[in-house]
Amino acid sequence: MRGCALAEFFVVCPIGFENDLAQELREIEGFLLGAGNLPTTEGYQELEPQKGGVRVQADPLIGLQIHFFSKLASRLLLRLKRFRALEFSLLERELKKIDPAPWIGAQTFSLKVSSQKSKLGQEKRIFETAQRAWKQLKEDGAQEFYLRAENDEFELSLDLTGEHLHRRGSGRDLGGVAPIRETLAAALLRFLIGEAPLSRLQNVTLIDPMAGSGTLLAEASRLYQPNFDRAYAFQSQKWIPKILLSPTYRQNYRGFGAPTWAGLMGADQKPEARARLESLAEGLTETLETFAPGELPSGTNPRWVVSNPPYGERLQKIPAEDLVRILLEPKPERVAVILPEALALELERRWPRENAPNGGPLWSFSKQRVLNGGIPCLLAKFVKNF
Ligand SMILES: C[S@@+](CC[C@H](N)C(=O)[O-])C[C@H]1O[C@@H](n2cnc3c(N)ncnc32)[C@H](O)[C@@H]1O
Repeated sequence: MRGCALAEFFVVCPIGFENDLAQELREIEGFLLGAGNLPTTEGYQELEPQKGGVRVQADPLIGLQIHFFSKLASRLLLRLKRFRALEFSLLERELKKIDPAPWIGAQTFSLKVSSQKSKLGQEKRIFETAQRAWKQLKEDGAQEFYLRAENDEFELSLDLTGEHLHRRGSGRDLGGVAPIRETLAAALLRFLIGEAPLSRLQNVTLIDPMAGSGTLLAEASRLYQPNFDRAYAFQSQKWIPKILLSPTYRQNYRGFGAPTWAGLMGADQKPEARARLESLAEGLTETLETFAPGELPSGTNPRWVVSNPPYGERLQKIPAEDLVRILLEPKPERVAVILPEALALELERRWPRENAPNGGPLWSFSKQRVLNGGIPCLLAKFVKNF
């Protein structure tokens, strides 16, 4: 990258998931390829959770590949320049020093401006100042820069991603009522999995008893697979290592494609949801079987349950005692759900209080706070102790 080997990336995620994202990035590191098409021995030089994401210092070739593997990230930015400006004239002078052309690979670009706790607080005027500095800046440019001011410090970043990363680009609109966002689905699945190794998941049947359009099951299937089903903005930018554009590059990622789970099962009370689940099954690595509620067959594999039960304005919530019954019907070893805080705590209160053979409690409960579409929710997990 133009005389400087390391780049500074900011990997954006929903607030509250910064440490989960940092952990995911550490796991991904071993999959990333160096210039010789072999797993990199360099990895990231620095990785630091910050509010709203993780700052990563890495060779551009390494950092850009995060796009293919991260399921928690919503966007990657390349941090280009920081400066201080207390006057619009100074802001214009600083922006004029930056030539956007080598970065974008396009004729035009747009700019997202945000300003907090800064003397130059008017975002519209900041944008107009940038328009005076850069004639390629348009309202609907082909690439995008972010200009953020906080405490009078400006930071210019290049968007590397384009469309939000929760759009997995499988060419399939799952449809259905109140589907969960894919990045949040991935977070719930990672919460369910915890420290369990991949080899353990390969013996587990994963069940969503209120599967709707099947976002959680689809996401579970692709959790450890690279995503080449969509385009990323960086692929049409001029500055990137050309090796990333080679049509055969993705073939160098070996060892992917094996099923993550022993099998997937989805149930829903609505026949149209079950019909959609059946068509979803065709595109997945694992076998996905679809059932009406109460018709799940018994099986020998350990079972884990994951679900996003109905709640909110458009869906009638299920009373906690019914929810306990629906979630425990498959006889699972562990269960993870996302629910509004009060409902999740009520679910915990109503969860069976049996003892394990060793005399301790049979189920352990853990939770993590999240926002789902602005609603304060909990990821709630019940793990059976043996
Ligand atoms: C919030 S949606 C699930 C969305 C799903 N996670 C997705 O992303 O597509 C809840 C689903 O639970 C189903 N449902 C509601 N009550 C049910 C019950 N008692 N048994 C089975 N499914 C039920 C609804 O038909 C709906 O599809």
